[in-house]
Amino acid sequence: MDRLDEATIEQFHDSLDRCGSTSQFLGRFYQIFSASSPEVAARFSDTNFKTQTRALKTSFYMAMLASDQNTEASDYLERIAIRHNHKQLDIKPEFYILWLDSMIKAVSEFDPQFNNEVEQAWRRFMQPAIEFMMSRYES
Ligand code: HEM
Repeated sequence: MDRLDEATIEQFHDSLDRCGSTSQFLGRFYQIFSASSPEVAARFSDTNFKTQTRALKTSFYMAMLASDQNTEASDYLERIAIRHNHKQLDIKPEFYILWLDSMIKAVSEFDPQFNNEVEQAWRRFMQPAIEFMMSRYES
């Protein structure tokens, strides 16, 4: 897995801070993401918002771990990735593209300094985690 460079990590965190209230920002993300496909919406039909917000915050943490090489991190990533595979939550690889595009859309609405560079920082930041999750779909 590719390592994240410090500049990307900093740009990501600065942008996340500028997005302000986590519940409003992640609430908007969840709305955009669910609207992106009826199949995505169906996956969350029994999910409560609090659980989902927690999972999303964890996703950012996982993005950091995914670019790291330590075993503890990879055990955790492995567990979450398996939970998303075709036998369990059945999160198809294309849903991760919608996930990231929906996240970028939410950031563009909430970060007053949003621009192409900010967008690329988010994409680079999430990429290792997304690639890892996708690679476990068939497992
Ligand atoms: C990098 C991308 C993603 C990461 C890191 C991630 C991470 C997580 C985490 C940490 C949880 C909580 C699991 C647990 O505690 O056992 C979760 C739950 C879940 N995720 Fe993801 N996820 C990602 C992408 C997606 C995508 C694309 C979908 C598509 C619909 C999705 C759907 C779900 C669902 C349905 C749950 C279960 C919610 C519930 O408990 O009701 N995730 N995810």
